Amino acid sequence: MAPTDPPGPASGARAPDVRPPGRIPVGPLAGFAALCLLICDPHALFGHVATRLNDHGPAYLHVIEPRMQGIDLAVVGQGAVATQQLRKLFGGTVIAAGAFEPETAERTVADGDADLIAFARYFISNPDLPERIRLNLPLSPYDRSTFYAFDAHGYTDYPFYDEEKAARA
Ligand SMILES: Cc1cc2nc3c(=O)[nH]c(=O)nc-3n(C[C@H](O)[C@H](O)[C@H](O)COP(=O)(O)O)c2cc1C
Repeated sequence: MAPTDPPGPASGARAPDVRPPGRIPVGPLAGFAALCLLICDPHALFGHVATRLNDHGPAYLHVIEPRMQGIDLAVVGQGAVATQQLRKLFGGTVIAAGAFEPETAERTVADGDADLIAFARYFISNPDLPERIRLNLPLSPYDRSTFYAFDAHGYTDYPFYDEEKAARA
């Protein structure tokens, strides 16, 4: 890879770059957020960061809700508190993630608390996730024992809805 190339899969195939030219996305690191919970006031810190980012016009701000800790739901019943706060402070596009279900994702966008919702775990177990949400189809559960494993199992072998239905028939 040439030093100036953007990061991409080792195979040489590249995902399309959807960022507006010259603008970078911002997503404060989860580890940093976890550290912050221990040593500082996350409302003050991330509120300050989101406010100051307005001066730089990043492509988007990607927020992970604090109800998630890594890949686990740590706080049951907590709403989308981070994006609700930061959306008011940051004027650009906000992408929220972290334990959203299709219904709560729709509501969060409809309420104006985020522009877009990102899914992680459900996208792993549902390769046709957008289609399933659009058609209100049931979602396949994910198997967390395969997260962070080092082969394709649990990443590329979840069935599409039609395949799942055919296997059940
Ligand atoms: C297999 C896996 C890998 C992940 N890798 C990252 C990562 O590299 N950086 C990061 O900020 N979050 C990572 N996350 C965490 C998600 O960004 C996020 O906390 C959460 O899983 C999203 O919520 P959801 O899974 O409920 O949709 C990962 C999650 C999973 C399941």
